[in-house]
Amino acid sequence: MFNHLIDIERLSTEEISDIISTAQAFKKDTITSSAKGKTACLMFFENSTRTHCSFELAAKKLKMHVLNFDIGASSFSKGESIKDTFENLYFIGVDAVILRHSENKIIDRILENISYPLKFVNAGDGNCAHPTQALLDYMTMLEKIGSVEGKKIVIAGDVAHSRVAKSNLALLKKFGAEVHFCAPEYFMPENPEKFNVIWHDNLEEAISGADVVMLLRVQNERLDSETVKKCGNYSDKYKLSSEILNKYAPNAVLMHPGPVNREVEITSELLDSTKGVTILEQARNGLFVRMAVLNKMFGEKDE
Ligand code: CP
Repeated sequence: MFNHLIDIERLSTEEISDIISTAQAFKKDTITSSAKGKTACLMFFENSTRTHCSFELAAKKLKMHVLNFDIGASSFSKGESIKDTFENLYFIGVDAVILRHSENKIIDRILENISYPLKFVNAGDGNCAHPTQALLDYMTMLEKIGSVEGKKIVIAGDVAHSRVAKSNLALLKKFGAEVHFCAPEYFMPENPEKFNVIWHDNLEEAISGADVVMLLRVQNERLDSETVKKCGNYSDKYKLSSEILNKYAPNAVLMHPGPVNREVEITSELLDSTKGVTILEQARNGLFVRMAVLNKMFGEKDE
């Protein structure tokens, strides 16, 4: 049982494995809800399809009450502070807030400022963390390759702006994977050496012999004008096709957190091939992982 899920770094390997076991139990329908009657508030300051829909469905399957907070119609526009908003939501009856926001580490700042025991789940903050994505990716990898220990996992694309890459790295390192990042210089973060991974700027070299290849989209909404100019020919060197995948990593599991930009980081023919189905399976596992996370916030009993 935990109060908040903010990032992967604060979870132990035992806690992660426990969340995955619970997610697998929800997938097999062998566990019941501990969160029935509790209230979840979905608050998304950035757009979302997978995370929003799967959290909403997860909460509904757990028989929770669900509030979809409408940012545009809320009293934020009247100058209400974050502190006052969350304290009011707590008194109205919200137990847990599922928050997506463009600001890094926003939940830590909220928790420093509010005086009431509202629970928080990070549904993605800036380019910092997306813990439930890393958990569902890990669940999918376990289903496909059994264990990640010693396995070559390549994450390729706009690493600099990707919270998914950072949360996956934190998780995969805990379980002994060999993590490689592949990006052109303009999509590498500052001080790339601090990530303690193997860096590549050549896609073919990076994926050679990989067990998992995870592609990332170009996050156009976070790019400055300089980077927009530089990344104009990104697809020439970094678009993955069946031909390249079959040549350099024929046994690799193909993954992508979504949303996919067809013909930018991946060809349509690869996405629509049998290899691409894993990307949809990731989205499905997101439902079970999010059920597990919400359930664990309110304690749980095995059937
Ligand atoms: N992977 C992911 O977070 O997708 P959404 O932005 O659609 O939620």
